[in-house]
Amino acid sequence: LDNGLMRTPPMGWLAWERFRCDIDCKHDPSNCISERLFRDMADRLAEDGWRELGYIYINIDDCWSSMQRDKQGRLQADPDRFPSGIPELARYIHDRGLKLGIYGDLGTHTCGGYPGTTLDTVAVDAQTFADWGVDMLKLDGCYSNDTVQQKGYPLMSKALNATGRPIGYSCSWPAYQGGLPPNVNYTQLGEICNLWRNYDDIEDSWDSVLGIVDWFSTNQDLLQPAAGPGQWNDPDMLIIGNFGLSLEQSRSQMALWAIMAAPLFMSNDLRTLSNEARAILQNKVLIGINQDPLGIQGNRLLKEKSGVEVFWRPLSESASTLVFFSRRTDMPYHYKNTLWKLGYLPGNYKVYDVFTGRTMPELTHQTYFTASINPSGVVMWLLSPTVHRVQTQEGANPSL
Ligand code: GLA
Repeated sequence: LDNGLMRTPPMGWLAWERFRCDIDCKHDPSNCISERLFRDMADRLAEDGWRELGYIYINIDDCWSSMQRDKQGRLQADPDRFPSGIPELARYIHDRGLKLGIYGDLGTHTCGGYPGTTLDTVAVDAQTFADWGVDMLKLDGCYSNDTVQQKGYPLMSKALNATGRPIGYSCSWPAYQGGLPPNVNYTQLGEICNLWRNYDDIEDSWDSVLGIVDWFSTNQDLLQPAAGPGQWNDPDMLIIGNFGLSLEQSRSQMALWAIMAAPLFMSNDLRTLSNEARAILQNKVLIGINQDPLGIQGNRLLKEKSGVEVFWRPLSESASTLVFFSRRTDMPYHYKNTLWKLGYLPGNYKVYDVFTGRTMPELTHQTYFTASINPSGVVMWLLSPTVHRVQTQEGANPSL
């Protein structure tokens, strides 16, 4: 969507995967869906170095609203859990240099059973969100049919635009239509939405991450061209820092989300995050790769018989990233190849290992390299060509 927003994949924090529809503030006051939770997370984003890295959205998901609209037919926040109201929460968040996202559902009810946005309330809901100072809307699609979705998603795009407030627009539409053409029209989605959920909800498990990665890779020829500045495929939240992923698997999720040019919405508890999880989520070079200004989504290049998969993404200034991903379950695997065989042009390449933070000996396109990849882990490289020569000089010393 060409609204000037999200020219690189949006980054921030989203409540759903970690906090779900916990509305029991009596017994679980610090984790229930309430203004306190969002203020806590805003404090963490602002004070723990996240904001400076680009994690600026704090996004409310389902179960924030009251069961009834107000007398004027507007959505309203649950008065017990959001006693200060959303406009006040928006102020709190804006005061900290952050942006506020909210959740709606095109249909009679949200997936959690709260009031939905029907075709006749699209305009009033867009205006309400704008009046409140909301900066992003995730519009889910539970309890609606194909016809309503076909009308409603473009209608909301227009209604948000008509408010005059810049509001990033996340559409769950394709996820409700199987995620693939011909049911899904990615050209149209790119025109009306800034990002869209293509596939199933992420859960707190490695199986779930693998299922998502496999689906996106299998269908990459259809999905990859849809992405670009202002319009992103969304494989769903980062679950790093929760309970389901090992350290290696956490690195893998982060690396593969960077390859996919995915929005980086963490759904975790920033108050209790481990240092290991923080280091992965705050890896500057990795974030820089995800946020590359060209905005070209990467691809899986190869699925080796060994269980190693090679992913590649082109970056600005002739740089690129390679991710070697091991699906093995035995021990670190020594993967051997050359850049030439991976499709690289003749030349010399500087190679930076994104997770060890080390610059490696320069490679020519023909050098055999070995990458040691841990089970369910990745090795991630940032490559840039060094001296371009018309004729490649075999065996030339690294030009350091
Ligand atoms: C759907 C969405 C999730 C979340 C829940 C909320 O399942 O895909 O991301 O928003 O609804 O109920």
